[in-house]
Amino acid sequence: MYEEHFRLKEKPFGLTPDPDFLFLSESHRRALDHLLFGLESGEGFIVVSGDIGVGKTTVCRALLRRMPERFTTALVVNTLLTEKELLRTVLADFGAEVPDGTRKDLLDSLNRFLLAEAERDRRPVLIIDEAQNLAPSLLEQVRLLSNLETEKRKLLQIVLFGQKELREKLRLPELRQFDQRITVRAVILPLDRRETARYIHHRLSVAGASGGAYLSSSAEKLLFRRSRGVPRRVNQLCDRAFLAAALRDAARVEREDVARAAESLSDGVPGEDRPMRWFRRASWLAAPLLHLTRFGKGGGF
Ligand SMILES: Nc1ncnc2c1ncn2[C@@H]1O[C@H](COP(=O)(O)OP(=O)(O)OP(=O)(O)O)[C@@H](O)[C@H]1O
Ligand SMILES: [Mg+2]
Repeated sequence: MYEEHFRLKEKPFGLTPDPDFLFLSESHRRALDHLLFGLESGEGFIVVSGDIGVGKTTVCRALLRRMPERFTTALVVNTLLTEKELLRTVLADFGAEVPDGTRKDLLDSLNRFLLAEAERDRRPVLIIDEAQNLAPSLLEQVRLLSNLETEKRKLLQIVLFGQKELREKLRLPELRQFDQRITVRAVILPLDRRETARYIHHRLSVAGASGGAYLSSSAEKLLFRRSRGVPRRVNQLCDRAFLAAALRDAARVEREDVARAAESLSDGVPGEDRPMRWFRRASWLAAPLLHLTRFGKGGGF
């Protein structure tokens, strides 16, 4: 592939949320700071939301790496579960006993585990990624888990990551109690234009790039326009554009490589190139005129 051509040690634009490639845009940094602050304060729920592909799972993985040692974590990533399955997953991920019994047996086991952790001065945190998929009834069950407490403090802290449907779900009347308990809300935004360029260079340098301009400035401009600063889209476009440049045996990625990449990923309209959009509109407006002209000719006026 193109790694060899550009003398890189590894693939710079992979699609897995690898925290080794973490780039801290203003909004990613703010989300991570809010998370660490919220966990320190130990109160309420923390909710991190953002559009598809902006980097929620990446921030979640980065958080797990930075979590101070006194926290014990359970991470749930499959959210299409029944309530009992959720409880089992949480227990298993905490490394607690998973009884083969009723919902009450599972809750008792969780309570025992959390009390033992509190006694050892440890702070259990349940992190749920893809939380937009949790049914409202399951979100309500998650809220009830956070009611487990001693006289002094809550036994379990809860962090949810989810697409913006999660925010909408949390506004439902039946989830009002959940919503009121959220103390930290962070939103991850797409990158702006400068951040997009820095993001690309950051990923290239983690992959072993030795500096220099890998993209022309018009290529960068088009990349931003077509990706709208959404990191997953940036990665997809870069991956193909770098391949196109390598196939041309070129030293850097040009605008045409990005255009070709966008075309091959073509989902059409979002982020459509301005000249293309202009052409579409112009041809739509011109159609009746052409028709009239033809009619005029044929009709012998
Ligand atoms: N801050 C970042 N630093 C480095 N890479 C990032 C960052 N944010 C996102 N990415 C990259 O973008 C891609 C999508 O990221 P991720 O899977 O974290 O998004 P997501 O918001 O969880 O998406 P989804 O809504 O589908 O769950 C991944 O390849 C990831 O490596
Ligand atoms: Mg994700």
